[in-house]
Amino acid sequence: MSAKHVCVSDFEVEARKVLPKAVYDYYSSGAEEQTTLADNVAAFKRWRLIPRVLRDVSSVDLSVSMLGHKLNMPLCVAATAMQRMAHPDGETATARACRAMGTGMMLSSWATSTIEEVMSAMTSSPGNGDGVLWLQLYIYKDRELTLSLVRRAEEAGYGAIFVTVDTPYLGRRLEDMRNCFKLPSHLRLSNFSSDSLAFSEGDYGNDSGLAVYVAKAIDPALRWDDITWLKKNTRLPVIVKGVLTGEDASRAVRYGVDGILVSNHGARQLDGVPATLDVLEEVVEAVKGGCDVYLDGGVRRGTDVLKALALGAKAVFIGRPVLWGLSCQGEQGVTAVLQLLRDELTLAMALAGCRSLSEVSPSLVRRVDLASRM
Ligand code: FNR
Ligand code: LAC
Repeated sequence: MSAKHVCVSDFEVEARKVLPKAVYDYYSSGAEEQTTLADNVAAFKRWRLIPRVLRDVSSVDLSVSMLGHKLNMPLCVAATAMQRMAHPDGETATARACRAMGTGMMLSSWATSTIEEVMSAMTSSPGNGDGVLWLQLYIYKDRELTLSLVRRAEEAGYGAIFVTVDTPYLGRRLEDMRNCFKLPSHLRLSNFSSDSLAFSEGDYGNDSGLAVYVAKAIDPALRWDDITWLKKNTRLPVIVKGVLTGEDASRAVRYGVDGILVSNHGARQLDGVPATLDVLEEVVEAVKGGCDVYLDGGVRRGTDVLKALALGAKAVFIGRPVLWGLSCQGEQGVTAVLQLLRDELTLAMALAGCRSLSEVSPSLVRRVDLASRM
């Protein structure tokens, strides 16, 4: 029987014990000195919550409408690759947990389960609400291959495409370089038929195998015009994942995107970029309501979710916490992580005097340097 988990870091402590070192290192690492990795978490501590009292918080409604779907909470699962390294059920377990919680899951292009099997895991599972799947898309040099992923997502009933725009090359993750990270031999990136695209065999040299794979297959020449190309080639909403400035956010709106995910890829790409929470206000201001704004990076507590919502995110995504839950207890572990964060968020809303998300506004937060002068 595993230990009692009362916060997300309890799951990480246990996951670290059960995972092979190279897998834990791959999941947990940020790029280079991991400055941004620490800052993503620290940024939430630079804000204080400013509660209101006597507002009848006997019931708190967390429901939100996102990309045409009603979700039970504004907390969704970010794309994380290769989930069968964490648990034999991998992405299918995560999908069932999202269904159970009535929330959304962004499936990585580099899943170790197919687009179709993850959809069938989600739809065949009992749910408390709908649950929805979105596809995270990496744009390959081979555009036909890229569009075949989009077609498969459309046909399987996915609700949107999150196109990752911060990975022309893979960031330098030092532990992966030291470990010469590769997929274990019984696994492959399931959405690709050829062994080389499935990252299942080939010579990856004395380096992070994934960095070699990305350099070989992923298109580093992406430009804004490619967003137009993608939009022309799908009827699904397109969200850009990996925007960190107001300048790029307003450009994204001009290019007609349906949403912006403020993300630094869990601090795994360019080290030294700001924490996502620190650029959220700038992005929200630049977007001027032109599309939804979401955030991921460092969300570990319900109060973190509340702070991001107060600063203008419509919803937030979590990456690593899901991997920790999955490593500990498969589907049950992912459900437990989502339920824990949901409970924390519900309590934080009630204690702050908010009955629904429409009552969450910037007046709920203050930067620490200003709050200490109150
Ligand atoms: C990721 N992330 C990611 N992003 C993406 O667009 N495609 C992918 O396949 C992956 N894979 C992936 C693997 C692992 C192990 C991690 C930790 C992250 C980034 C992910 O979607 C998200 O942006 C961050 O994980 C959010 O930060 P936190 O919640 O992990 O701090
Ligand atoms: C990563 C890739 C898969 O962050 O996005 O490892």
